[in-house]
Amino acid sequence: MPAPLLETKLYVSRSPRVLVPRPRLSERMDRGATSRLMLVSAPAGFGKTTLLAEWLAAGPAAPTDERSAAWLSLDRGDNHPVSFWTYVIAALRTVAPGVGASALALLDAAQPPPSKRC
Ligand SMILES: Nc1ncnc2c1ncn2[C@@H]1O[C@H](COP(=O)(O)OP(=O)(O)OP(=O)(O)O)[C@@H](O)[C@H]1O
Ligand SMILES: [Mg+2]
Repeated sequence: MPAPLLETKLYVSRSPRVLVPRPRLSERMDRGATSRLMLVSAPAGFGKTTLLAEWLAAGPAAPTDERSAAWLSLDRGDNHPVSFWTYVIAALRTVAPGVGASALALLDAAQPPPSKRC
C-alpha cells in the first residue's frame, strides 16, 4: 500500500507578515509568467519561496490573465522517482482534479528500486 501523502507539502508557504517590497522582482515574475517556463534561482535564504508565495497571493497582473498554481515543497525524501512523481501529480491535482490517473496507477504498481549493495 502506498504511503500516505503529506498534504502540507502541497500548501503554498506562508509569507512573513511584514514584507520588504521587491517590486522589480515582482515585475520580472509577471513578465516571466508569459513564457512556458520560469526558473527562480538564487542562493539559499535569498527569499525565493517568499517571492513566489507573495506573487501568487497578489493575483494576476491583468484581469485577463489566468493564474492557477500547484505548489509542492520537496525534501530529501522525495529524491526517489516514485515519491517525486506521486507528489507532482498530487500537486497538479489541486488545480486539475483527476489528472495523471494512468501515471498514478503505474507508480502504485512500481517495484521499489533494488537496494544498493556495498
Ligand atoms: N521580502 C521579504 N521581506 C521580509 N522577509 C523576507 C522577504 N523575503 C524573504 N524573507 C525572509 O527571509 C527568509 C528566507 O526567505 P525564503 O525562505 O523565502 O528564502 P529561500 O530563498 O526560499 O530559502 P531556501 O533556499 O532555504 O529555500 C525567511 O525568514 C523569510 O521570511
Ligand atoms: Mg525556499
